[in-house]
Amino acid sequence: MRLIVGISGASGALLGVELLKTLRLFDDCEVHLIVTKSAEVTLSVETGKSLEDVIRMAAYYHPIDRISAVIASGTFITDGMIICPCSMKTVAGIASGYSDNLLLRAADVCLKEKRKVILVPRETPLSSIHLRNLLTVSREGCIVIPPVFTLYQRPETLQELMDAIVAKILMQFGLKHPHFRPWSGS
Ligand SMILES: Cc1cc2nc3c(=O)[nH]c(=O)nc-3n(C[C@H](O)[C@H](O)[C@H](O)COP(=O)(O)O)c2cc1C
Repeated sequence: MRLIVGISGASGALLGVELLKTLRLFDDCEVHLIVTKSAEVTLSVETGKSLEDVIRMAAYYHPIDRISAVIASGTFITDGMIICPCSMKTVAGIASGYSDNLLLRAADVCLKEKRKVILVPRETPLSSIHLRNLLTVSREGCIVIPPVFTLYQRPETLQELMDAIVAKILMQFGLKHPHFRPWSGS
């Protein structure tokens, strides 16, 4: 499996790190990472990690301005893309097809090739502009997974809350999170 992971500058950089950490557990999963300029700031503020720390967590890293990278072309076959977390600016870029950086171009390519694009959008409260853009991207084929609490498992730690969100993302690609128990009925 070959996945593109984008980390953009919404709050929740830790979730992006958790996603990369979890994807490393799957031997046959090749991760291509893109990090926006703003995400470098949120990674530092929220996790204390540098860009170099995060780059080490992926098999391949593509600088945000390298618009000639392989993932900018539909001829480079992937199983899809995850943007976690996804800022409202990046949602707007995808909704309008305004691909002025490699992350937006890669998402645009996945959509035109009808490949999976998972967005983990984070903002609160949401304006009607945000909601309209989220509806647009959903109608265009993106799967929108907001990072909301899964409380029916009675989580006790932040780790459990994050595991549940990462599990929901992985499920979209048929991958099973090792620490998440699906609902088994009551
Ligand atoms: C600490 C911090 C937290 C932020 N949180 C959010 C957020 O939750 N959602 C959002 O849409 N933008 C947030 N922003 C603003 C984005 O980083 C900004 O709009 C940026 O232009 C997004 O660019 P990108 O999508 O290319 O990363 C935050 C910025 C900082 C510095």
